[in-house]
Amino acid sequence: MTDAPQKTAITLCGSLRKGSINEILRRHMSAKLSEAGVAVTDLSLADFEMPMFNEDLEAEHTPDSARRLAELFRSSDIVVIVSPEYNGGVTPLIANTLAWVSRQKPSPFKHAVFGIGGVSTGKYATIFALSHLRDSLSKVGALVAPTLLGLGPAPEVFDADGNPNESAIQWKVAQTVRELTQFSRGGI
Ligand SMILES: Cc1cc2nc3c(=O)[nH]c(=O)nc-3n(C[C@H](O)[C@H](O)[C@H](O)COP(=O)(O)O)c2cc1C
Repeated sequence: MTDAPQKTAITLCGSLRKGSINEILRRHMSAKLSEAGVAVTDLSLADFEMPMFNEDLEAEHTPDSARRLAELFRSSDIVVIVSPEYNGGVTPLIANTLAWVSRQKPSPFKHAVFGIGGVSTGKYATIFALSHLRDSLSKVGALVAPTLLGLGPAPEVFDADGNPNESAIQWKVAQTVRELTQFSRGGI
């Protein structure tokens, strides 16, 4: 019997703010996936600049960043998207990035299992944004892990080392990692 090949993951964050609390969650998810035996690539959307999406622009020039990120979506077993909640939705950075990526062919959403999470200062802990993001990803055919990693209120979520303070949050992270590593599209 041969060992199953090592799973691969990319993690990205929808806030480029210095001191972003969501970036702490992204790093934590990368660490936990690595501990679970996954080969993780940490991404920064600062390295994937894209203009504000507009179909006219698309006809003239698709940014190379959109093609590169779409290929990373296609070739990774796990895609983790962490986003703050802005006005009950995801950030403009995530919305714009996904708009460009969704226009790339073949579909970048049909291979990976997607994990979504976010931290916010509000007591509803990004759950409006994550529900919307799950619907949107499902609409384009992505398989999204059922646990929505909505955490809050910031800044009490993480300790100085970037680990969750509450055991309930540690459990939720572990559950998300189990789902991401054990679910598979089975080639569909
Ligand atoms: C434009 C804007 C809208 C926001 N809307 C919400 C919101 O709807 N719900 C919420 O819980 N927090 C909201 N916040 C607060 C963010 O949760 C908070 O700024 C958070 O720290 C951002 O994440 P970051 O630290 O990763 O950048 C909003 C912040 C901004 C700048």
